[in-house]
Amino acid sequence: MTEYETIRVERRGRVAWITLDRPEALNALNTQLMHELVGLTTELDADDSVGAIVVTGSEKAFAAGADIKEMASQSTAQMREANHFGPWLEFARVRKPVIAVVSGYALGGGFELALMCDVILASETAKFGFPEIGLGVIPGIGGTQRIVRAIGYPKAAELVLTGRRIDAAEAERVGIVSRVVAADALLGEAEELATAIAEKSLPALVAAKVALDAALETGLEDGLAVEAERFTALFDTADQKEGMAAFNEKREPSFRHR
Ligand code: CAA
Repeated sequence: MTEYETIRVERRGRVAWITLDRPEALNALNTQLMHELVGLTTELDADDSVGAIVVTGSEKAFAAGADIKEMASQSTAQMREANHFGPWLEFARVRKPVIAVVSGYALGGGFELALMCDVILASETAKFGFPEIGLGVIPGIGGTQRIVRAIGYPKAAELVLTGRRIDAAEAERVGIVSRVVAADALLGEAEELATAIAEKSLPALVAAKVALDAALETGLEDGLAVEAERFTALFDTADQKEGMAAFNEKREPSFRHR
């Protein structure tokens, strides 16, 4: 069993819960945390007993960004040589549903981490923003790309160019988060949501993500082709037979997740 210093992991049924755990730095995403989180999610992605992954932080902070203390004195050559944020690409490639459960600050890289997840569930205390512009840099873990795709250019540009922080209500209004819930209901709602997803057929979940991703990556014709191929391929799975038989027999399906 791998030991982690910057994250905690817990299994609840088919859901793997990952809690970012650098309270002294409001869960700033330093290199160690990045490697631990990316390594763990890659392992969980390969484990058929896991149907969904939750990433969460503390009440005060989901994550306050990349670690500024670690980056402050770096040169361009050093950042390039170290491929400083490269491993995050692996996190974004996880095949299974990943749910960000956000309370408090989700700033800079923390906001970008949430945007790499498939669903964002937010507490009413959540605060999102890209403060990078005020540090003399720009978002560097996909923020400029994913925020435009998520909410459209004009609003995305305002957030990136000003660094303005928005609250949970505004984040919900513009379509950044799936749902906002009361602070004391967050973990319960998160558990319900994650369990509901994790219990679905795993091949169908993976296919759904591939098709959804295609909508971001390709034109309509190509995306429709990806969807058609993935839809058709599911008809050779035990779960498709079970899911449709359960419907016809008016009972709940019992998926084998393969
Ligand atoms: N990196 C390193 N340390 C951080 C940090 C970060 N991103 N955010 C907070 N911390 C540290 C603080 O330095 C402080 O440590 P010390 O006690 O050693 O001074 C500790 O966490 C607590 O923070 P504060 O005292 O600042 O807490 P606060 O409640 O007064 O303020 C906050 C909270 C508004 C989130 C403030 O901490 C803040 O503005 N943090 C930085 C946010 C930021 O600019 N993020 C973008 C980073 S750059 C980036 O992410 C680039 C990219 O795209 C990859």
